[in-house]
Amino acid sequence: MNGKPKVAIVYGGKSAEYEVSLQTAFSVINAIDKEKYEVLPVHITNKGRWVEGHVIAGALEYKEQLLLDENPTAVSANEWLTPSNINASKHKPDIVFPLLHGPNGEDGTVQGLFELLDIAYVGSGVAGSAVAMDKVLAKDIFRAHGIPQAAYLAFTKYEWTEQREHILAELEGLIGYPCFVKPANLGSSIGISKSHDRKGFMGSVELAFQFDQKVVVEEALEAREIEIGVIGNDELELSTIGEIQSGSDFYDYESKYQDGETNLIIPAMVEEETLAQLQTLAKKAYKALNCSGLSRVDCFVRTSDHKVFVNEVNTMPGFTLFSMFPLLWKHTGVEYRQLIDRLIRLGIERHQKRSQIRYRID
Ligand SMILES: Nc1ncnc2c1ncn2[C@@H]1O[C@H](COP(=O)(O)OP(=O)(O)O)[C@@H](O)[C@H]1O
Ligand SMILES: [Mg+2]
Repeated sequence: MNGKPKVAIVYGGKSAEYEVSLQTAFSVINAIDKEKYEVLPVHITNKGRWVEGHVIAGALEYKEQLLLDENPTAVSANEWLTPSNINASKHKPDIVFPLLHGPNGEDGTVQGLFELLDIAYVGSGVAGSAVAMDKVLAKDIFRAHGIPQAAYLAFTKYEWTEQREHILAELEGLIGYPCFVKPANLGSSIGISKSHDRKGFMGSVELAFQFDQKVVVEEALEAREIEIGVIGNDELELSTIGEIQSGSDFYDYESKYQDGETNLIIPAMVEEETLAQLQTLAKKAYKALNCSGLSRVDCFVRTSDHKVFVNEVNTMPGFTLFSMFPLLWKHTGVEYRQLIDRLIRLGIERHQKRSQIRYRID
């Protein structure tokens, strides 16, 4: 590495969270230490083109500056990101910070691309990202590790068509109503609904199948929603805990992004024993899914007995200045700029360690 490490901030993307991603990039680019890093913006347009901009040395005034023109001189994805070109290219970053959420960003696909290009990146690798994104795979792994979670049942569209009666019997025996029905692979609560009876359930399943071929049904827990930040590769650090209090029946898409009625309470108040359980489970879940860099582990604390359940692990949690994850770290004593710095260093460290792995025996 000569001079300052070059950090490519990749944002946008073909997903429901395009706008959020842009907002995040704006926050990160303005906060990152430019004395220390050379900052290169890379905009994935909502059509899926990768457009690289000029190095950013000062502060941005508004986020629209990040909508890089698709002009002919801009480097396209095909030039910027191909294994044959990249190593000779002056554009090769030392590390990529992918500020992308959901499918194609947080699910291992883009991570696989960076692996092939032999570029360090912030966050979890291919397997961790992919498994955390798939609610069914994640739950099966949690089960194998004895991590407490809501009772669940998963099935594919094909199975739903072929064995509907059997699935209904199993559901009503194992879980009952109310229950949550979720597409296996999405985020932001899209396609998720709560059903209160068989009729509602049929509708919920149809809705979820619009978004994925696989769905998961869970017992609806009467619980508080507590989130905790984890950073690290081998040695893990935990943030303060925070609580989500949404104005609606559950933390749905509107309450996440639109209605402004959701409160983030930091720190969340729980008993010592509950806090200890949350901390143990957060680390366990992070390791079980093979995460690295960062994750936000979302838990439930059941109202009746304060038992802790893991809900999900987000490998690229919301990362604007006002999102839960950075706010948790701020409360823990790690400012946004410092947090960005730590994550970049963890990404570089992971890449260096992986570079020492032998692939051949001769
Ligand atoms: N088993 C459950 N019991 C109670 N509430 C749930 C359950 N599963 C999900 N929810 C509610 O639905 C919201 C979204 O579900 P989640 O699995 O976190 O999906 P996403 O990946 O879209 O965030 C949660 O934040 C919570 O409010
Ligand atoms: Mg969630």
